[in-house]
Amino acid sequence: MTIAQQQIQLARRPQGVPVHEDFRFETISIPEPKQGEVLVKTLYVSVDPYMRGRMQDTKSYVEPFALDEALSGGVIAEVMSDGDKLKQGEIVIGNLNWQEYSAVSESAVRKIDTSLAPASAYLGILGMTGLTAYFGLLDIGRPKEGETVVVSGAAGAVGSAVGQIAKIKGAHVVGIAGSDDKIDYLKNELQFDEAINYKTADDIQKALADACPNGVDVYFDNVGGPISDAVMNLLNEFARIPVCGAISSYNAENEADDMGPRVQSKLIKTKALMQGFIVSDYSDRFPEGAKQLAEWLRDGKLHYEETVTEGFENIPDAFLGLFKGENKGKQLIKVSDPS
Ligand SMILES: NC(=O)c1ccc[n+]([C@@H]2O[C@H](COP(=O)([O-])OP(=O)(O)OC[C@H]3O[C@@H](n4cnc5c(N)ncnc54)[C@H](OP(=O)(O)O)[C@@H]3O)[C@@H](O)[C@H]2O)c1
Repeated sequence: MTIAQQQIQLARRPQGVPVHEDFRFETISIPEPKQGEVLVKTLYVSVDPYMRGRMQDTKSYVEPFALDEALSGGVIAEVMSDGDKLKQGEIVIGNLNWQEYSAVSESAVRKIDTSLAPASAYLGILGMTGLTAYFGLLDIGRPKEGETVVVSGAAGAVGSAVGQIAKIKGAHVVGIAGSDDKIDYLKNELQFDEAINYKTADDIQKALADACPNGVDVYFDNVGGPISDAVMNLLNEFARIPVCGAISSYNAENEADDMGPRVQSKLIKTKALMQGFIVSDYSDRFPEGAKQLAEWLRDGKLHYEETVTEGFENIPDAFLGLFKGENKGKQLIKVSDPS
């Protein structure tokens, strides 16, 4: 086995939309596992919009990435050395550095069951993004049969799961996404009732009103910005708005660039509930969510899509692609095959 490997570091904090120069490829040695550690080989890396927030040095629910140190995130890896509990060849998931091999504490990774679903699914539908959809929609959105659920970022990892779960619950589901291919996917593969291309709609407000003749009972917000402003005009009494993400503003250079209509009077008039959440709020209930998602998957009620970019060197590009809408479903990078 070679002794050198590549690691991707944060070279500088992005100004606005991140660029290649914000990332640095560093050659480092493959670490020797110490007592209680195993050597793992990276198979799949997940890139996620929240990582953009971690590239800034601002207070948030997760620590910022440190300058000149490795970026990190959800990784599926193969165990390459025997530990006390883990054995060579087993497939694990963990929050690991963006590098080809890592020496990790056995307790920092979790073995996954690849008989249930392919390993990559644990970074998406059976992992963080699937659980985000499940808890955000069902705990905060609480859709009832016959209600109208609107989801933005609808063809992405979280949004595509939200819409399908809302369909399982008997809702009228409207998705908003940014290409005709995604609209076709939502309507014809995932059976959303309506889907709107926000990039080509002449009048998004009218398109939404047409798609939601009975108003909006649940708005699962992944994007914020003008799309959400339009949905907020259609809220029904006692609507619920799980605020999951605001990707339209993640690259804003200052908060003043992201001003919109005020929401207070809309919330007062409709008595709607708008609530932000972080998936980790539900960590105690992850087993419940993962079990239900796996059952729906097994029963063919839930489908998932992955956009898989090949090659470790393409991790930054795959990350940047999230902000250009290049992914359908979960964006992953395949770094290597299992041995
Ligand atoms: N609260 C939590 O715990 C939690 C957990 C996971 C994710 N999230 C958030 O949930 C959202 C979706 O995450 P994901 O992992 O499923 O990502 P994703 O939807 O798979 O990928 C991002 C998508 O966002 C859309 N987008 C990019 N820029 C946009 C803009 N300016 N306006 C509107 N849409 C834009 C693009 O699709 P189009 O082609 O449609 O533009 C892109 O494909 C993100 O905001 C993320 O931060 C929150």
